[in-house]
Amino acid sequence: MAEMIKLFVNGSEVEVEAGKNLIDAIGAIGIEIPHLCYHPALGADGNCRMCLVGLEEGGPPLVPACKTQAAPGMKVLLNAEHIKKIQHDVLEFQLINHPIDCPVCDQAGECSLQDYYMEYDGQKSRMSEAPVSKSKKLDFGCGVIHDQERCVLCGRCVRFCRQITKTGELGIVNRTDDARVTIFPGRPLDNRYAVNVVDLCPVGAMTSADFRFKQRVWFLKKARGICHGCSKGCNITIDHNREKDQDDLIYRFRPLLNEEINGYFICDEGRLSYKQENENRLTEARRGKTAISLDDAVTTALKEMAKAEKIVLLISPDSSLEQMAAVKSLAEATGAFLSGFSDGYIKKGDGDDYLIQDDKAANRAGLALLAIDSSRENFATALEDAQMLINFNSNLSLSYDSAELEKLIKDKYIIAVTSHDSDFCKMANLAIPAASFTEYRGMIISCDNILQSFDKAIDKNSPPVEISEIAALLGGSLKNSEDQYNALKEVIVSTESFNPDTIPTAGLKLN
Ligand code: SF4
Ligand code: SF4
Ligand code: FES
Repeated sequence: MAEMIKLFVNGSEVEVEAGKNLIDAIGAIGIEIPHLCYHPALGADGNCRMCLVGLEEGGPPLVPACKTQAAPGMKVLLNAEHIKKIQHDVLEFQLINHPIDCPVCDQAGECSLQDYYMEYDGQKSRMSEAPVSKSKKLDFGCGVIHDQERCVLCGRCVRFCRQITKTGELGIVNRTDDARVTIFPGRPLDNRYAVNVVDLCPVGAMTSADFRFKQRVWFLKKARGICHGCSKGCNITIDHNREKDQDDLIYRFRPLLNEEINGYFICDEGRLSYKQENENRLTEARRGKTAISLDDAVTTALKEMAKAEKIVLLISPDSSLEQMAAVKSLAEATGAFLSGFSDGYIKKGDGDDYLIQDDKAANRAGLALLAIDSSRENFATALEDAQMLINFNSNLSLSYDSAELEKLIKDKYIIAVTSHDSDFCKMANLAIPAASFTEYRGMIISCDNILQSFDKAIDKNSPPVEISEIAALLGGSLKNSEDQYNALKEVIVSTESFNPDTIPTAGLKLN
């Protein structure tokens, strides 16, 4: 439990966490102090002066809040006329050369400078000189586009590359109004976390080549999610929108703060993995090459299952715990061999010592928890004797090349229950479309053994059925979420009693 202290803000006593600077301490109780250069992940730099606040008694009358620790009894002044005037003047200084053309800026709607301008300045520029002109639309590499004219030289992007990725590609050159952020000649951004500078930039000076000018941010709906790009389980904001007569589409993933897992950042690969949620989806059931209804597909599957003496079920290591439990119950009901084989999801040596993991499976720990066999040999041996393979969304192409895959499934009846179309899906006798991870509620366990839950974020025009529902239709005994939770309660041992509705947003560390 954090130590709390009492201090005064604008004459009222408040209780805040000890050991924090004034921006974070007072911000945590809902009182914002304007700031540009400070970011909790990068520390205080003290260069923008937007955060100047008054101190009554004991100390200098004016202090930068980012560099001032909250102390017991401190009397902080935010709303006095002279403080408002200082903030207004600092802002006017920041805006001397900054274009005031928010309607055409990609950052409009999520720009600190725009918000502060509306709150503290809101007046026409008094400059009679033409603003200094600088370069626009500079390609800094890694999908980051820089606009030097919009830059307020807060240095967050530079510090990110020095302190977090330790790659140091960015620097500020020149002085006074000629100062600008730049890369070194021939040395573009070259790290796997580079696009975080776009989120860090408090203004529209760093934009993402992938996202810029595709959507106005105020049209985007936001949902909380968990990246399924690797086993780290980084928390993300899913920005999505349904345009007129269109489907609900995702426009970007952004990092969502989780101090226990990813802090403020995510990797670029995970960030761009949103595209897979929109593209190459299997949208209708197929028997061979013929489109059929879901009911027809289930009837066909049941008929073929009744004919097969031995069945192998394969479950993806990306599936939620609920889905794994549901498919396991199908295996128990039908006497099928259940495998979580997914060696191909592991890219040895690809991970780093920060967030990115070798294991690209989001929930391998779930397979272990539910004691689902994942050995390559056992899968291959079981399949050799079987007449049927039902693959619940596992990407076998990661483990076998197409010749090997063809040989492996030759003479078997193949059912692909899958969110995405693929070569494997095209080889299947029967393909059943399934929901992808942004389209259902579920739980996964990260590589750090942290149990996390996520909600359904996307509502498709024709919502694909969830894997656990399909497993139930095919004969699994877990017919609904209550059945699934009851089955999971038996295996999830935590320090607190397990309840899927009360998993903390930071996740639950399992024993
Ligand atoms: S580009 Fe953005 S983050 Fe970088 S110094 Fe300029 S304003 Fe700050
Ligand atoms: S580190 Fe892994 S979980 Fe995190 S954003 Fe990247 S791919 Fe996704
Ligand atoms: S936030 Fe304090 S000086 Fe910039």
